[in-house]
Amino acid sequence: MPQVDDGPESGETLRRKLDPELPLGVFDSGLGGLTVVREIAAALPRERIIYLGDTARVPYGARSPATVVRYAQGCARALVREGIKALVVACNTVSAVALDVLRAELDLPVLGVIEPGARAAVAASARLRIGVLGTVGTISSGAYPRAVLTVSTRAEVSAHAAPLLVPLAEEGWLDGEVPRLAVRRYLEPLAAAEVDVVVLGCTHYPLLRATIEHEAREMIGAHVRVVDSAHATASELAALLHDRGLLATREGPGEIDLLVTDRPRSFGEMTARFLGGPAREVRVIDL
Ligand code: DGL
Repeated sequence: MPQVDDGPESGETLRRKLDPELPLGVFDSGLGGLTVVREIAAALPRERIIYLGDTARVPYGARSPATVVRYAQGCARALVREGIKALVVACNTVSAVALDVLRAELDLPVLGVIEPGARAAVAASARLRIGVLGTVGTISSGAYPRAVLTVSTRAEVSAHAAPLLVPLAEEGWLDGEVPRLAVRRYLEPLAAAEVDVVVLGCTHYPLLRATIEHEAREMIGAHVRVVDSAHATASELAALLHDRGLLATREGPGEIDLLVTDRPRSFGEMTARFLGGPAREVRVIDL
C-alpha cells in the first residue's frame, strides 16, 4: 500500500476532482530532495514538477518536531497555492514528523519517503537486519523502525543519526579522507549489528552513495546492499497517480520548475549536480 491519504473526505462522491494536467509538488528543506525529483522525472517523464527547496531554513534535521511541522506547513501551503494535484514530501525529517499533519490539512494525496524506503529495505534484506542512517530528527522520531515493522514484524532495525553527512554533501565533499572517516564512524554501530542493508534515510546521503557503499562493503561485507527511498517513492507515486486517474496525458516532455526561499543563484548552479544539464532558472518565494 503506498504511503498516501485522501484527505479528510470519506466517500468517493466527496473526493475533490483533481486535474491530471496540474503539476506535482515536491519539497525538501534544501537541495537534497532533487534526488527524488530525478527519480520522479525518470519514472514519469510527462509530468510537470514544481520543486520547492526551503534554502532559507535548511537544515531541518536538528530542529524540534514542532518547528519542522511549522516549516513543512509553510512549504506545503506555498505549493498548494501554485496549483498542484499531489504532494511529495522528499525530506525524510518532514516525512518522519509532519506527514500526518499535512495529510489532515491538505485536500490532495500526500506521499512521504519513509514508507517507500522501508518497503525497499525489507525487499532488499535477506536476513531482515536493516541499518538506517538519517538526521537526528528522523532517527529520534523512530519513524523508520515503525515503518519497517509494518512491513515485516520479524525485521530488526538499527537506526543511527549521521548529522555530519548533510554539510559534507552540501559542500560537495563527496569522496576522499574526510567523508570516508565520517562515513566509517557512522557505519560502526551498523556493522556491529550485522545489518545486511543500509538505508540512506536522508535526502542528501545518495550524493555520498559511492563512499557509503565502498566503506559498508569493507566494514560489513560484500553482500551488504545500500538502499535509498528516491526510486521506491517514484514507483509508488506512479502507482498512486495511475490508480487515481491522475497521470498527465498531454504530449511532450514534462518540465521542472524550481522555487527556493533564499540564494537562488547557488541553488541553480548546484542543480546541475542533481539533475544534469546546465544551471537552471530558479524563482525565489517567501513563505
Ligand atoms: N532533507 C533532510 C532529510 O532528508 C536533510 C537535510 C536537513 O537536515 O534539512 O532529512
